[in-house]
Amino acid sequence: MILTAVQSQTILNPQLEIAGGRKLSGELRVSGAKNSALVLMAACLLTRDTIRLRNVPPLTDISAMGEMLRSLGGTVNHTADGIELNGNHINNSTAPYELVNSLRASFFCIGPLLARMGMAKVPLPGGCQIGTRPVVEHVKGLKALGAQVTIEHGVVTAVVPGRGHRLTGGRIYLDCPSVGATETLMMAAALADGETVIENAALEPEVVDLAGLLLAMGARVRGAGTPTITITGVERLHGADYAVIPDRIEAGTFMLAAAITRSHLRISPVIPEHLGSVITKLEEAGCTMQHDGIGLTVKADRISAVDLRTQPFPGFPTDLQAPFMSLLATAQGTSVITENIFENRLQHVAELQRMGAAIRMQGNTAFVEGVPQLSGAPVQGTDLRASAAMVLAGLAAQGITTVRGLEYLDRGYAGLEDKLNSVGACIERVSANPALVNVAA
Ligand code: EPZ
Repeated sequence: MILTAVQSQTILNPQLEIAGGRKLSGELRVSGAKNSALVLMAACLLTRDTIRLRNVPPLTDISAMGEMLRSLGGTVNHTADGIELNGNHINNSTAPYELVNSLRASFFCIGPLLARMGMAKVPLPGGCQIGTRPVVEHVKGLKALGAQVTIEHGVVTAVVPGRGHRLTGGRIYLDCPSVGATETLMMAAALADGETVIENAALEPEVVDLAGLLLAMGARVRGAGTPTITITGVERLHGADYAVIPDRIEAGTFMLAAAITRSHLRISPVIPEHLGSVITKLEEAGCTMQHDGIGLTVKADRISAVDLRTQPFPGFPTDLQAPFMSLLATAQGTSVITENIFENRLQHVAELQRMGAAIRMQGNTAFVEGVPQLSGAPVQGTDLRASAAMVLAGLAAQGITTVRGLEYLDRGYAGLEDKLNSVGACIERVSANPALVNVAA
């Protein structure tokens, strides 16, 4: 019985049941980028006008960011394919702990909130499953723009001293190319008095997408996508209507679904420049790919081992390390995978081993010896991308795999099982405790 979308929302303690070993065929549609949409939503704090964002993915993280903005006095309305945001009545510069704690990206509001209000109190986002997730660079950069920043009782309080509450442009050097710090500081600098230069900035496409929105709002930003971003502050920013880029991590996950099932799929839309390292690694592993200007076709018959080292963009993305490991667990030969970005992003290894994967760990490196066949088993998604990795492994495994941890999966993938079922997968969202199923009438 395939539950309707409404019913699937009322499943208590949900898990995915995956019947593996099926070939996929057809086309998978890529949604808007979660890691872009979240920061573009925060930018609405910079103006009193309305921001219309299109191609926004329907994810729990997006809803959480909406709640954050509402708690600050913003209005957030969902439209047919996106969100309409208005920051005219922002009247609160204190972000609630429970919202920041549930969604790390909401910490990025500190930059625009400070630029708009002259003050911001935002709880530290804290660590999560994959690492401690510090915000040292964000704080250091705000101080370089003239803010007084203190951290007490787990709350970051930033204040612009003196009259006028306006930040002052300055030179910032990031010790590491932090995506969130780059984005936070771009937004803060957009309304500052004078010029800001961010050195060692993150190069990710989501940073470039934020620059695109800021420019559409009347900001003066140069160099996004390069290590040096220059922002000349303006007095005020106006509204904009802006489309979010496609989600390169979802697209990469779909490419890996084709590869792990040895299938032929078309995935669109895909911006190849956003996935250069992933495309290269999949070709190295034996996939053939063709981009037709909008979408990418992926064909896979035989998969060989490749080595991966996660790096900041344009290096191999840490967000696809776990999904790619599922593929390499079924490859011919032994792959060496090194996670260089987060200190605790290899927890999916134990779950893959439950499915028969032959993986040996040494520090932040996994030695993955491909096996002819994974076997279905009950497994747990330990973070967003690890949950996706377990779904991919289930597609290839012999027998039934049940994946728990959908509270992580639903943060980053909109209707993953529906999309995969539309190209031939057999996945059902069920309650882990059938007696608890509360199916809507
Ligand atoms: C963004 O997180 C993404 N999240 C992450 O995606 C992604 O994995 C990450 O960038 C790296 O690409 C969003 O955009 C909402 P960072 P962010 O600051 O900004 C260290 C997903 O699955 N660091 O670039 O928090 C940090 O510890 C999520 O969609 C410092 O040392 O990442 C980490 O090792 C997971 N000091 C590395 O930099 C700092 O002050 C990258 O972190 C800040 C970061």
